[in-house]
Amino acid sequence: MTTPFLAFTRDVAPSMVDCELTHLARTPIDVTRARIQHAGYERLLATLGCTVRRIAPAPAFPDSVFIEDTAVVFDEVAVVTRPGADSRRGEVMAVEAALAEVRPVVRITAPATLDGGDVLVVGRRVFIGQTARTNAEGIAQLGALLAPHGYMVEGVTVTGCLHLKTAATAVDDATVLCNPDWVDPAAFTPLRTIAVHPDEPMGANVLRIGNQLLYDEAYPRTRARLEDHGYTPHLVDASELAKAEGAVTCCSLILRTLAPPIGR
Ligand code: GLY
Repeated sequence: MTTPFLAFTRDVAPSMVDCELTHLARTPIDVTRARIQHAGYERLLATLGCTVRRIAPAPAFPDSVFIEDTAVVFDEVAVVTRPGADSRRGEVMAVEAALAEVRPVVRITAPATLDGGDVLVVGRRVFIGQTARTNAEGIAQLGALLAPHGYMVEGVTVTGCLHLKTAATAVDDATVLCNPDWVDPAAFTPLRTIAVHPDEPMGANVLRIGNQLLYDEAYPRTRARLEDHGYTPHLVDASELAKAEGAVTCCSLILRTLAPPIGR
């Protein structure tokens, strides 16, 4: 049966305990528990209309479960990134091979760096976080690759967290959930912004699947704000993944399922 979405995921590597960390202190990670949470996340993706395809595991890459950073996928094209952390560069090859089956693929190349976690797509606007992982060349290259498809990129200043999508994600095409301490809400004008609860700085990461939302249950006060605005997110426990500075968008690449060209 064809589902509306395809979700690429990748297993939790046993080496995740040695993950990159930028703004979080290292705390012990229970990999078994992380795997159970990840499996629950995948089940919820399936419930929300995704065919889940786990690509080949990458046990030597501690952050490989965070597949979002390796590509940015549009209906028209998949852009394979060049991650900003040296330890993550080798994650992209298997992702590229999987994406090549469903989209034309192009690449970000040196000296550019770009993490998918820094790329927030809202309609035809593509906001890109200026962070330690994504440089000016990465923003310029993505802009050049997307211009023929009618997307406009905009660099966004991010402070205090790893990625733009740690600080802000879209809940629909008109609304952004954000932490105003880490990103200026004015960057998204004229979109409406909803601020995270001040006690939940990490609560700005929500995953859109069509018009449904997948959200970490760890942020009930921010969830209440979403509910006040009429949204009803579906919840997962992602606490072990959060210790590795990952969140719900990080663990998948969500693509719309496109009809094959006539004649195929
Ligand atoms: N630990 C997630 C990352 O640094 O990319």
